[in-house]
Amino acid sequence: MGHLIIEGGRPLGGAVRVHGAKNSALPILAAALLAQGESVIHNCPDLTDVAAAAEILRALGCRVRRSGTTVTVDAPAELGHTVPDGPMGRMRASVLFLGALLGRTGRAEASWPGGCALGARPIDLHLGAFRALGAQVRDDGDRLVCTADALHGRRIVFPFPSVGATEDAMLAAVGAQGVTILENAAREPELVDLQGFLRALGAEVAGAGTARIVVCGGRPLRPGTYTVMADRIVAATYAAALAATGGAGALLGTDGAGWSPMCDALARAGCAVRRLPDRVELTAPPRLRGIGPIETGPWPGFPTDAQPLLTAALAAGEGETLLTETVFDRRFGYVAGLRAMGADVALDGRTARIHGVGVLHGADVTAGDLRGGAALTVAALAAGGESTVRGLAHIARGYASLPEDLSALGGRIRRHEG
Ligand code: UD1
Repeated sequence: MGHLIIEGGRPLGGAVRVHGAKNSALPILAAALLAQGESVIHNCPDLTDVAAAAEILRALGCRVRRSGTTVTVDAPAELGHTVPDGPMGRMRASVLFLGALLGRTGRAEASWPGGCALGARPIDLHLGAFRALGAQVRDDGDRLVCTADALHGRRIVFPFPSVGATEDAMLAAVGAQGVTILENAAREPELVDLQGFLRALGAEVAGAGTARIVVCGGRPLRPGTYTVMADRIVAATYAAALAATGGAGALLGTDGAGWSPMCDALARAGCAVRRLPDRVELTAPPRLRGIGPIETGPWPGFPTDAQPLLTAALAAGEGETLLTETVFDRRFGYVAGLRAMGADVALDGRTARIHGVGVLHGADVTAGDLRGGAALTVAALAAGGESTVRGLAHIARGYASLPEDLSALGGRIRRHEG
């Protein structure tokens, strides 16, 4: 799917708009299955993962149209039950269609979901929630079949605040009779966005953004219109690019609340970060400095998706930082690419010791996953000379216009097909 050629080593500057959030758009598209009729979703980013979600919706009988950044989903009276293998294998979020199908029809079938290779990614918490609501789940290791004559509201306590399992449980609970209480729920901003869309459909949901979400299921639903929030990891990516290159600029369409841990980390590294209602302005020092130990964690902790981006930015700075990954088992695959650019990053289990070397140099590197690919792009913008970043297919899963947006910020970056 092509590669990026980047001539780095110069500060970025200017302003760029942050597109809609992938991790909100995907559960919201799944939720559109819950109400018969035409739901309208604005600010829906044009990503390959969103195209995969549209493919699933069509296979289930929906009509899906895109006009600019607006996607319309017309869900029929009778839905199919089987999530097609192709898109199911391409992205992790396809598992959300199981919850929505169960909630609407009481039956869902699929193969195992795919997604970025970040270590073991079981779905036991999703399936446990379905079972708690009264579904039978048959899992022969290859195919999943979930069925329920009727779902019933329950109190579910998650052993870990999984984002996807919380979303899946919310989707199924909307179709259950009675009250579901989700305890130790994920609190990420995307949960609040999903709650907003579910409310637009007429569902009774409260508490998203806290550890306790209450769903009063079984309400009659109607199609809804909703605007997806800005993508906080895309915002964090552009902020990392400004910071790594010693640049100054503004990210439009975000107030920074959804990515405040990244704003705080960059501020500790020496950036002036100004959060305004409609934008975040960032001015970086010529070189970032190391920050105290930091670890990823469920919201409001430092987001695991921003971990590679922060590492890339700090690797081009000065001083030392210990960054520990606590959410995924294997999320340092991109470090090999950073080292090829001259970065000094030592790995000890789940902790990276980043020693800023001040100046990186261009190299030919390959993205192995979505955010790792974005991190290599950030590093390449900071590195002197020319870099090639391969594996664009990973990046296209989560960035609608990465080279264009970084060019708008003054980056010398071009896409080569093939
Ligand atoms: C979502 C995001 C992803 C982000 C992650 C953590 C989407 C589409 N993806 O992924 O970008 O990195 O949140 O913020 O929104 N786990 C289990 N059993 C389960 C489910 C999860 O053990 O049933 C574990 C996972 O293996 C992982 C951890 O919980 O170690 C976090 O996963 P989870 O919060 O579920 O992330 P996702 O929903 O997959």
